[in-house]
Amino acid sequence: MLEKLTKWRKSFPIQETKKIDEVNIPKHIAIIMDGNGRWAKQKGLPRIAGHREGMKVINKVVRRANELGVEILTLYAFSTENWKRPKTEVDYLMKLPERFLSVELPKLMEENVKVRLMGSIENLPEHTRNAVNKAVKETANNSGLILNFALNYGSRFEIVEAMKRISEQIEQGTLTANEVDENLLTAHLMTSELRDPDLLIRTSGEIRLSNFMLWQIAYSEFWFTDVLWPDFSELHLDEAITVYQKRARRYGGV
Ligand code: IPE
Ligand code: IPE
Ligand code: MG
Repeated sequence: MLEKLTKWRKSFPIQETKKIDEVNIPKHIAIIMDGNGRWAKQKGLPRIAGHREGMKVINKVVRRANELGVEILTLYAFSTENWKRPKTEVDYLMKLPERFLSVELPKLMEENVKVRLMGSIENLPEHTRNAVNKAVKETANNSGLILNFALNYGSRFEIVEAMKRISEQIEQGTLTANEVDENLLTAHLMTSELRDPDLLIRTSGEIRLSNFMLWQIAYSEFWFTDVLWPDFSELHLDEAITVYQKRARRYGGV
């Protein structure tokens, strides 16, 4: 029996669920879900098989985050640079929101999750846009976890767009250059009503941001793991949170 248990434990990439301090839960967690393609390659499967598997992880992570009292979960699903991929892969990725929501939307409703989007949604194919907009509409009155999907999102584009709108106001004379400050720029970003991420997670061993929330993560804690996104589970989320809880956030102070 003990031998069996030890074997079972060893099959997990992390040893065991660490104790989470329930009073110090990161309120906003942002995740760069990376490594789907490599996961598939390792198994001799086409890249899209990795995306399909990766989609299944989302539900587990959302449920666990909600259970722990995380207020906002931002998931990087498609970047403004991901259009460079082969058309067949992009087409598949654009079908995933519909697939995901057709199964998960009732569960998200049950769990009181509120779906939100950031990115250039207007430039997505109509079928993708319809699926995500429907989810936003149907969950609009939910008061639990905010599930913020970054879809066709790029941080530099976001900042440039914000600057354009601010410049227009200056041109029209409704704003002076002197009034431009950090709060004003923050208010013009796609995250205007969200607090900044406390914890940023990236899977698959890549140690870079790939144009994700450059402004908002100025003081976030980073946690990187070699685990590929399709292999990510609630246990890894717990692990990330326990590591976060050991960090001393100083914000430049002492
Ligand atoms: C992340 O996995 C999913 C998206 C970027 C849409 P990748 O597709 O980037 O997987 P790798 O990095 O090639 O393994
Ligand atoms: C970042 O991953 C984008 C998403 C996870 C949606 P990429 O796989 O596109 O990033 P790079 O190309 O490795 O920097
Ligand atoms: Mg990648």
